[in-house]
Amino acid sequence: MKVLTGQLLDYASDPRHAGDGAIRHVVDGAIVIGGDGRIVWSGGRSDLPAAHAALERIDYGSKLVLPGFIDAHLHFPQYRMLAAYGKDLLDWLNRYTFIEEQRYGERGIAETAAKAFLDELLRNGITSCLAFSTIHPVALDCLFEEASRRNMALASGKTLMDCNAPDGLLDTAQSAYDDSTALIARWHGKGRLKYAISPRFAVTSTEAQLDAAGRLAKENPGLLIQTHLSENPAEIEFVAGQFPWSKDYTDVYDRYGLLTPSSLFAHGIHLSERELARLSEAGSAVVHCPTSNNFLGSGLFRLHRTSEGDHPVNVGVGCDIGGGMSYSMFDTLRDAFTVSQLVGSRISAHEAFYRATLGNARLLGADGEVGTLDAGKYADLVVIDPCATPLMAERHALSGNLHDVLFALMILGDDRAVTETWVAGAPLKPRP
Ligand code: GUN
Ligand code: ZN
Repeated sequence: MKVLTGQLLDYASDPRHAGDGAIRHVVDGAIVIGGDGRIVWSGGRSDLPAAHAALERIDYGSKLVLPGFIDAHLHFPQYRMLAAYGKDLLDWLNRYTFIEEQRYGERGIAETAAKAFLDELLRNGITSCLAFSTIHPVALDCLFEEASRRNMALASGKTLMDCNAPDGLLDTAQSAYDDSTALIARWHGKGRLKYAISPRFAVTSTEAQLDAAGRLAKENPGLLIQTHLSENPAEIEFVAGQFPWSKDYTDVYDRYGLLTPSSLFAHGIHLSERELARLSEAGSAVVHCPTSNNFLGSGLFRLHRTSEGDHPVNVGVGCDIGGGMSYSMFDTLRDAFTVSQLVGSRISAHEAFYRATLGNARLLGADGEVGTLDAGKYADLVVIDPCATPLMAERHALSGNLHDVLFALMILGDDRAVTETWVAGAPLKPRP
């Protein structure tokens, strides 16, 4: 057992709705971590129970200690394929992404990639994520094996794709169903791992395959489902042509039973009111991926129109590597802010950090285990230095309150501001 001391911050609920009462900030705080990697106690240092007073202490001074960041959408096999000069989504997929992902049928390649991918997450204070893999079962095995070694809470699944992609990246409706069933049995619930049913998007699945995905969802109720939705106008048009009977893009997934309370749809930029109404009714979520949307020119996501419109839909945040430009949660939140400015509904730093922690934990059905600093949860933590660079230190001197501190962090911060990343009570930030 050990004690971490520092400036603690977490959220009891969504501060945009609950107000400042949702913000839990302890300037001089302490967290007691048990031998099982879970938080035994957290609170003010002066209230530390006597029973823990003699434990080894790691003192982070005035640095911030938050629940580890959670990323709700990114692609493991695109870990190095960011910054590829594409025109838009479909051009970028065909020209770079589908080429790169074909390599993942080889164990050696997937093993190396899994290490590099998880290292990059931890370097950026991201302790959990919902990630896409490729069609290859071996790629998912490698990712889960490596996450397991690090005791990380990871959710992923074999990608389902049986049309409109190169042969080397296609399965079939039947093999997708069989492979997924075997992988669910092998991995779901093993340690901290969760399986996610993962049709890539309607463009790359036939009706037979979406039907198979729906069967998997029915046979495994409560399992996470991830896919892409309404990211780009040409993609939307393609889907309308491929499924001429559909009312709209959302209707395609709906037809196959893929709108559930554990479904996360990446992007959702161009949704109609009808689509928002169905997603809201189903309790599904949309994941905002602002650096990716900006990089691919996909459009401006209207976060509050989605989360607070007539048909409120849950919204998460994700970096969407490699369409996204950075693994850093600070960069994701920075672009969420700049996009919110452009659409006329500003997000606050508290809302941003809530979404990156408890908000995303809730969407992944993981808020019983992570997302806050409450006793009983895993000690998945990020330690943040608001003065990590000379410029940040100068800017920090101007901050008059906690919101200022967080806002400057999300605008100026990067992996240098992540002092340490704790996973289940172990410090795991890779050092260069
Ligand atoms: N839609 C289908 N596949 C992808 C992908 O790999 N990245 C993004 N951004 N959108 C997608
Ligand atoms: Zn994506």
